[in-house]
Amino acid sequence: MKTTLSLLAATALAFCWGANTTYAADHMTVGFSQIGSESGWRAAETTVTKREAEKRHINLKFSDAQQKQENQIRAIRSFIAQGVDAILVAPVVETGWDAVLQEAKDAKIPVVLLDRNIRTEKKDLYLTAVTSDQVHEGKVAGDWLVKAVGSKACNVVELQGTTGSSPAINRKKGFDEAISAAKNIKIIRSQTGDFTRAKGKEVMESFIKAENGGKGICAVYAHNDDMMIGAIQAMKEAGLKPGKDILTISIDAVPDIFKAMAAGEANATVELTPDMAGPAFDALAAYKAKGTMPKPWIQTESKLYTAKDDPMKVYESKKDLGY
Ligand code: AHR
Repeated sequence: MKTTLSLLAATALAFCWGANTTYAADHMTVGFSQIGSESGWRAAETTVTKREAEKRHINLKFSDAQQKQENQIRAIRSFIAQGVDAILVAPVVETGWDAVLQEAKDAKIPVVLLDRNIRTEKKDLYLTAVTSDQVHEGKVAGDWLVKAVGSKACNVVELQGTTGSSPAINRKKGFDEAISAAKNIKIIRSQTGDFTRAKGKEVMESFIKAENGGKGICAVYAHNDDMMIGAIQAMKEAGLKPGKDILTISIDAVPDIFKAMAAGEANATVELTPDMAGPAFDALAAYKAKGTMPKPWIQTESKLYTAKDDPMKVYESKKDLGY
């Protein structure tokens, strides 16, 4: 009885202060337009988002766009028509969002971007973006390679992410910047692998063929680990030793890349957390309860891992992260 009374008193106080974030989160219905499931990282982001929503008693409406922007736009319009309290979008490409986001704004529905950016002149079309610094990720990857090869001549092949997506554009930019001063390092081939294992393998096979069975390649830079896992398979099938004959550097830090590292078949990765939804829901709850405006950009970390970091231990630790 005493406990119930104290609880009631605490709740009443929180209402007086206008600070009852639990109330705001508990009653939110949030639409989530996800890109698809092209990579292990993407699948983990979906798992974490659903888990975070459940934990906070948020009613999550999930829509899988199967890599198509038009499906995302349709999903956002449907969320608006249903009168959701907020919308999360992981935008497949950078451009073409102004009209639909203006519709959400006119309907007074806050939008949060997850893991990818959009290109727009109108910064007030979304409440905040939870993303990494993707140029920095590319730079961390490039800096690692510069250090790893020293003064040795090094021809790099690059597996790019989805054409027109912010991580593909920015990870390339950062890597190019990092290697620009090292005259011994040169990108000799660069093609999209669409962030998938299958395409990463296929493109790597064509690179190996074109470069004298892989003899002309010193390193692979992949914009995500899944493409690198595919590339590792292609190298092995061609009789090459990935991680030794050809160095590997990629981005995401998914569990499988640590398995490859432990086997000596991968060299380094830059971590991207799949938990973008936690900070997004926190920002939305504070905004809904108190009108608190979040920072326009909630930046996640980009940590470098190499084979020196006890890969199997990291592999084990990844299990709780939605993988
Ligand atoms: O936008 C984040 C990227 O998208 C991840 O690095 C990649 O794995 C995913 O598909």
